[in-house]
Amino acid sequence: MATPAAPRGFETLRWDDGLYIIDQTLLPNEYRIIELTDLESIAEAIVSLRVRGAPAIGCAAAYGLCVCAGQVRVGGVQELRAEIERAARILASTRPTAVNLFWALNRMQAVAEANYESPDALREALLAEAHRIRDDDDAACRRMGSLGAELVPDGAGIITHCNAGGLATSGYGTALGVIRAAHESGKRVHVYVDETRPLLQGARLTAWEMKTLGIPAILSCDVAASTHLASGRVQLAITGADRIAANGDVANKIGTLGLAVLCRHYGVPFYVAAPLSTFDSTLASGDAIPIEERSADEVSSLYGTSIAPTVDGSFTIANPAFDVTPAQLVSALITERGILRPPYHEAIRAVLSE
Ligand code: MRU
Repeated sequence: MATPAAPRGFETLRWDDGLYIIDQTLLPNEYRIIELTDLESIAEAIVSLRVRGAPAIGCAAAYGLCVCAGQVRVGGVQELRAEIERAARILASTRPTAVNLFWALNRMQAVAEANYESPDALREALLAEAHRIRDDDDAACRRMGSLGAELVPDGAGIITHCNAGGLATSGYGTALGVIRAAHESGKRVHVYVDETRPLLQGARLTAWEMKTLGIPAILSCDVAASTHLASGRVQLAITGADRIAANGDVANKIGTLGLAVLCRHYGVPFYVAAPLSTFDSTLASGDAIPIEERSADEVSSLYGTSIAPTVDGSFTIANPAFDVTPAQLVSALITERGILRPPYHEAIRAVLSE
């Protein structure tokens, strides 16, 4: 089946008197925009990865609260505020690892706590904040792109894991934003895309984005990463992040840690690009980052066909969706306020207090 063309500059999510997203579970075979009309559909879209990627989840939750606020038609400011709190609690329970979700909900709730003359004034303020969250993310991604592109040599082979592109953000991407900016500046790059088992965000989404942008890419199984690194054809690795602790430990898609270990073995720099909304200075180290455990079915079946024995007392399946890469394996953290180098504790504290 031919890959459907994406409109250039596709919008991962859009507000048009309602919340519209690209249903990412259908890509690359179908490009479909869906409207999320109520709290249940917004929560379901986040849990089932119709919208996914740390910054995009934050934006979706922020606009999600605007959808919910628009549906409350009775009562005054106090009742509306209570409804927003209830919706925020439900959205906060969808996925535990990406801190951007909680960061965006906190920003929205802070707005909801101010004084308003009417429910409509509160609704307007919420929508303005959601737009700011989206616009700030876009600006951060573009800034990371131009800063990070400096780290990319002309002619580089770059390996990436999962999808940290436009689809995972408000539209430009973090790790893929760096690759995109290097490409847009005229550097020749080719991207080794890990398929990213079990949900194939690399094969389905990153490969699709690279193709849409005309950036040369090679898709292979996750286990081929060692072969590519051993071949000397990869000059750097770059991924996104779901949460970065105060000491620089990075939670990202399961398999990222393995890639970072390989990079250290082969002497290849391993970079992480993430906006400051992904940093969680309340956690001293990655040990405290909550790791989402997803359904065993995602591992034990492929396209509805079982590929593993039935689970019983002696046989079980583990499906952690993320892992934690220790800071000492990270060559640099690319943020919108600069490129951070070890020791990360000091660098992160300084950048967050700017
Ligand atoms: O489970 P997902 O698809 O939401 O996981 C996404 C990732 O792990 C991304 O690498 C991360 O969120 C960074 S996105 C800019």
